[in-house]
Amino acid sequence: VFAHLVQAPEDPILGVTVAYNKDPSPVKLNLGVGAYRTEEGKPLVLNVVRKAEQQLINDRTRIKEYLPIVGLVEFNKLSAKLILGADSPAIRENRITTVECLSGTGSLRVGGEFLAKHYHQKTIYITQPTWGNHPKIFTLAGLTVKTYRYYDPATRGLNFQGLLEDLGTAPAGSIVLLHACAHNPTGVDPTIQQWEQIRQLMRSKGLMPFFDSAYQGFASGSLDTDAKPIRMFVADGGECLVAQSYAKNMGLYGERVGALSIVCKSADVAGRVESQLKLVIRPMYSSPPIHGASIVAVILRDKNLFNEWTLELKAMADRIISMRKQLFEALRTRGTPGDWSHIIKQIGMFTFTGLNPAQVSFMTKEYHIYMTSDGRISMAGLSSKTVPHLADAIHAVVTK
Ligand code: LMR
Repeated sequence: VFAHLVQAPEDPILGVTVAYNKDPSPVKLNLGVGAYRTEEGKPLVLNVVRKAEQQLINDRTRIKEYLPIVGLVEFNKLSAKLILGADSPAIRENRITTVECLSGTGSLRVGGEFLAKHYHQKTIYITQPTWGNHPKIFTLAGLTVKTYRYYDPATRGLNFQGLLEDLGTAPAGSIVLLHACAHNPTGVDPTIQQWEQIRQLMRSKGLMPFFDSAYQGFASGSLDTDAKPIRMFVADGGECLVAQSYAKNMGLYGERVGALSIVCKSADVAGRVESQLKLVIRPMYSSPPIHGASIVAVILRDKNLFNEWTLELKAMADRIISMRKQLFEALRTRGTPGDWSHIIKQIGMFTFTGLNPAQVSFMTKEYHIYMTSDGRISMAGLSSKTVPHLADAIHAVVTK
């Protein structure tokens, strides 16, 4: 009965790793998926995560019962505090509901399902371009996906005018997906002044902000700085949704740990929103897993572990920033034609190089460098040792 099925293509991001794994070359380099690597090119488990896991193992009172549908309640409270700030008016007034979800994707999907069911506007605007999974998540959740201008290929920066025009003409009440920081794939973020203009425009039109926060602490190295745009929207008293992921900032990729928060107008509404979120979650996966959320809770509740985490996080962010400088310098030294200053201007895990699919394919074939076909490279996958190889490949492809 399944004989009619055609072979589905690999995922545009995760499929890059599949291709990389098949390549026997000793010089191969995976700059596809956004996953942090050390200077030795190895995945990193944070020290603070190891310590938290040890604590969990030592605690013989821990059991493996089902979590509630909303997940680990302490984790939810700590996550809301982390993203909105301890002094957030929404937390103080108890008008926020937070549910543990399966990392960023799961949080976005639960939020999308909830909006499709209970929000009067069914259209969500996403940035052009955006993370490849965004349109799929929201379409399958039952929303209509439209795009707004964001990136200007000419400047490799923000098309702020285009963004304001498109949000300005979006129907009142539309949902707008915003990358809280370290925009994926472009690495281009609005300035704080531009965020303020976006906020004013969105609030004046009743547009519903849905933040995707996958990189808190990873962009600037500061948890508070990276959460600032969200906090500006919450401080004005209006509603919003926030999807949080701990994949990158705690290196908990495979633990699938994240949270969805919905900021409401009153505690009463937040309570009813939570009751409806439970009806969304229960038939999807019943309740979320316990281990990853427990690790996060141990770290966030303990002052010393929290401080240690911020240092390890800053070290990861700094290493990425240093990779940007090294790659930029390496291209300058080679006299590679073109303006490559966007490499140091862009922020977060990715550089949107401007290389086209044919150039990417050349670099993969001739240099065994793997990246997504849109020219995005994961700076977190690069090291001082591999920068020259990447710079050689870019130089070769643009002078070809
Ligand atoms: C990425 O964009 O590479 C990451 O967010 C990982 C993923 O799931 O695509």
